[in-house]
Amino acid sequence: MEVNEGEVVITVPEVRDGASEGTGSSVFYNPTQELNRDITVATLRAYRARQPQVETYLDAMMASGIRGVRAATAGFQVSGTDTDSAAVQLARENFARNNVSGDLQQADANVAMHQTRYDIVDLDPFGTPAPYLDAALANTAGLVCVTATDTAPLCGAHQDSGIRSYSAVPQNTEYHPEMGLRTLLSAIIRTAARHDRAAVPILSHVSRHYVRTYVEIEASSTAANERIASLGYVYHCEDCLHRDAETGLIAHPPSRCAACSSERILTAGPVYVGKICDPEFVAAVCSETDSRLATGNKARRILSTIRTELDTPTHYDQHRLCKLWGRSASAMDDFLEDLHESGHSASRAHYSGTAFKTTASIAEIRSATSS
Ligand SMILES: C[S@@+](CC[C@H](N)C(=O)[O-])C[C@H]1O[C@@H](n2cnc3c(N)ncnc32)[C@H](O)[C@@H]1O
Ligand SMILES: [Zn+2]
Repeated sequence: MEVNEGEVVITVPEVRDGASEGTGSSVFYNPTQELNRDITVATLRAYRARQPQVETYLDAMMASGIRGVRAATAGFQVSGTDTDSAAVQLARENFARNNVSGDLQQADANVAMHQTRYDIVDLDPFGTPAPYLDAALANTAGLVCVTATDTAPLCGAHQDSGIRSYSAVPQNTEYHPEMGLRTLLSAIIRTAARHDRAAVPILSHVSRHYVRTYVEIEASSTAANERIASLGYVYHCEDCLHRDAETGLIAHPPSRCAACSSERILTAGPVYVGKICDPEFVAAVCSETDSRLATGNKARRILSTIRTELDTPTHYDQHRLCKLWGRSASAMDDFLEDLHESGHSASRAHYSGTAFKTTASIAEIRSATSS
């Protein structure tokens, strides 16, 4: 089957009706990840404008090679690895078909990352990226791009698996996207710090199926310490949904909820409680999402929301709160306007139309939006 994405045409395994993720063939291809790949290409272009010296890009798990072909078309010097010989064969055909060159090898990504220092490394594994984080974060010169599709472990729904993969305790709350992203970033930052390097998130986005983040590497133990200082804990009341966060690697969970005195407090951490992006960089990525991208409009919408999103490590769901209060939900713009008018910071959150972030407490949200 032929697929057009961005400026390239590649051959991928047939996707049967109703099937997803390249089932029925040995080589993986998932059409629903086009948005992820479109944002990747825009990010690569914006990153080169920010760091003009970057040249080399490793598509560490290439499958059909679609990411690598697109990076090569954008002018990067591409290498690619996959452990599957059928994937490497198909990727070679796809590079040739698009008249771009790439150094493509049947190899384990970890070996390639330890052998060669790339400017940019892209991790796009099945499920958790945890087995690849050490090699990527210890060796990459500039930017590490990470996709994680193991959202249930990351957000605490499969907690034991999350603990094993990320050496943190995620909790299953209603803010799955934030919990997942911040558990992943915590592991990335701690892994980089072991190598005296800082991993600074410059863009992150979350969908129901995956978490994607781009971290810039700074080879400095001082910068690594600053990142570690942005790790901490989230305390969540299961009864009234009140939540608090603190920084530091020693947790001080409250014995009772500050809002309702319940003892049913969940402690999550260490999670990353800092900024998930650099708004200026996100604006630059947004301006690279041009008409060549099929998902351009959606990507721009997501990126514009991320740019203005508050940094709070949790979000609220308007419908969930309204249900708790026994009243009907209102238009999100009006709801946020009410919060602003009452003097609170508030923003949308990019992963859901009913999600919002605010510095107001639940009681303050309730009273600000009650009219
Ligand atoms: C999710 S797919 C990659 C999809 C591709 N990047 C895209 O955008 O369509 C994961 C790929 O990783 C490969 N893989 C699994 N373990 C690997 C390893 N240790 N090193 C390199 N590739 C690996 C699999 O063979 C598979 O092709
Ligand atoms: Zn409470």
